[in-house]
Amino acid sequence: MSDTIHSVLIEDRLFPPPAAFQAKARLKDLAEYERMYRRSIDDPEGFWGEQAKALIPWMKPFDKVLEWKEPFAKWFLGGQTNASVVCVDQHANSWRKNKAAIIWEGEPGEVRTLTYGQLQQEVMKLANVLSSMGLQKGDRVAIYMPMVPEAAIAMLACARLGAPHNVIFGGFSSEAVRDRVNDAGCKMIITADGGYRRGQVVALKPAVDEALAKNGCPTVEHVLVVKRAGNPVQFQAGRDHWWHEAMQKAPAKHVAEPMDAEHPLFLLYTSGSTGKPKGILHTTGGYLVGTTITSRYVFDLQDDDVYFCTADVGWITGHSYIVYGPLSNGATILMYEGAPNYPDFGRFWDLVEKHRVSIFYTAPTAIRAFIRAGDHFPARADLSSLRLLGSVGEPINPEAWMWYHRVIGGERCPVVDTWWQTETGAIMISPLPGVTATVPGSATVPFFGVDPEVVKQDGTPCGPNEGGLLILKRPWPSMLRGIWGDDQRYKDTYWGKLAHRYFAGDSSKRDSRGYLWIMGRVDDVLNVSGHRLGTAEVESALVQHPWVAEAAVVGRPDEIKGQAVVAFVTLKANAKPDHDVRDTLRDHVAKVIGAIAKPDDVRLADALPKTRSGKIMRRLLKEIAAGGVPKGDTSTLEDLSVLAKLKDED
Ligand code: PRX
Repeated sequence: MSDTIHSVLIEDRLFPPPAAFQAKARLKDLAEYERMYRRSIDDPEGFWGEQAKALIPWMKPFDKVLEWKEPFAKWFLGGQTNASVVCVDQHANSWRKNKAAIIWEGEPGEVRTLTYGQLQQEVMKLANVLSSMGLQKGDRVAIYMPMVPEAAIAMLACARLGAPHNVIFGGFSSEAVRDRVNDAGCKMIITADGGYRRGQVVALKPAVDEALAKNGCPTVEHVLVVKRAGNPVQFQAGRDHWWHEAMQKAPAKHVAEPMDAEHPLFLLYTSGSTGKPKGILHTTGGYLVGTTITSRYVFDLQDDDVYFCTADVGWITGHSYIVYGPLSNGATILMYEGAPNYPDFGRFWDLVEKHRVSIFYTAPTAIRAFIRAGDHFPARADLSSLRLLGSVGEPINPEAWMWYHRVIGGERCPVVDTWWQTETGAIMISPLPGVTATVPGSATVPFFGVDPEVVKQDGTPCGPNEGGLLILKRPWPSMLRGIWGDDQRYKDTYWGKLAHRYFAGDSSKRDSRGYLWIMGRVDDVLNVSGHRLGTAEVESALVQHPWVAEAAVVGRPDEIKGQAVVAFVTLKANAKPDHDVRDTLRDHVAKVIGAIAKPDDVRLADALPKTRSGKIMRRLLKEIAAGGVPKGDTSTLEDLSVLAKLKDED
């Protein structure tokens, strides 16, 4: 069950859609939502066929909606389209040509606006640059960038050529870059010299150099570098190229080739409960349909909105709800480069005021940090442009929900708590803001075509308010198509736990109203500040250190981050730590994975508690990490004294 705490406030008031919001909403009639939902469940192919036709331009119409050979789905067979045409050309070639597609603000404060027409120019030129470097349909491209418009342009240019992108979060280390580039066999890397974060330049190109050193990534032929921060970088002749120089020479026209609906659009690596991060595969047609329809109905996107999602394009939220979903709808997005607390905790609210943001989407961890920082930050900004608020990434505790609703939303903005995953591609469970009455802490109801259930370990349904496993009972258009290069892992992880059901890895309950409450991961995946982190990854980073014999990593409830990372470590007998071993190991993990994985706490032990069969007793470690007294049966412990030691050790 979940490790997250912070649910002190019991708040079961219903918040109906505010009347002023509802009056203008795309979907305002509960009966209409119910009709649409019923249809999506009773006749999914009819529903999705109609929606897909209406929502995105097809270069060739599809002739079959779904082919389901469990657990492999194909959607919109025979259809062809191109994601960059859907997100850019369709608008650039319409009255939206001079409408802002991307308003970008750098952390130091500079602002750039790209209209749909200008975005199209950039995407076309970059597609020509990439082709001139030998990139072909099907080749994979790693994108390791700060939050600058070029990150979105790079994704869209890859999509235009049918070259699946593999965006790697800019906070990941060179080793993490190398692993992801090699697993996907990327032919190119698109990066930048650096970006700004908390007033500092975070260098990216040197990390790429390190990943490529000593032939570390043998498939990479070219590296394209955006000049963003002006930090010094080294270039390897023939391999490395400046973006601005290549773009200057590139022809301005490029005709997009139609891609099959099932052509791979991107890979995105995410953590699982075992082993290395897995490359989640999404394809063109279904993903676009899923992100377009959810952006339209969950965010109620309309033409005069300014939409601000605070995620980074390195995560699925950035893919689906900064780039593909909003742009496909022809929306204006605000993209911000830096930290939420730079120069202070009022930055987001200043951005909202300055750019007249109307829809704002962030994670509970940020909301909790804002609460702690104080109400004077939002109070100093004019937030009257806001009309809708969203939350994603982790359970939102009722206190945070209420503060968000009251202080940021001025009690006039609906709050949509959206549950979904890298694997689902698009939002699966969420209120629809013009029709669903919300309850703080509940993600409420399934989106169209989503058929969830809460079940016991044996697959039988749970009763009202009974906690269980969250499963989805049928395929949906934006679902992952597999794990890159590992069909078996795909089957076992998602479809192997309960027959004919997609197992999400989360626990949940359904209340007597029928609303869903997501409670947290049931596997060995942590959720640290809304970011997914596999305990196995951190353990494997720790045991790479020459001093470490064994490591076990667990989550500890944390008021701000949701979960904190606690590592229990045993050192080798011959280890001779010469300085502070805890800091050394924390820094070591940051170097191997990235700062987000840095343990908050490293606890040294003579041995780890194990069952007789040699399994580390994580449940006990979790309780110890949380400061509790271990309960339950410990009779299978190999060495009870180990347990006492772990508790005392500090
Ligand atoms: O545990 C759930 C949590 O985040 C996990 C998915 O993580 P990731 O693939 O990185 O995608 C995050 C952004 C979509 C889920 O298995 N999660 C996501 N949204 C919520 C959530 N938990 C509770 N409530 C949510 N709204």
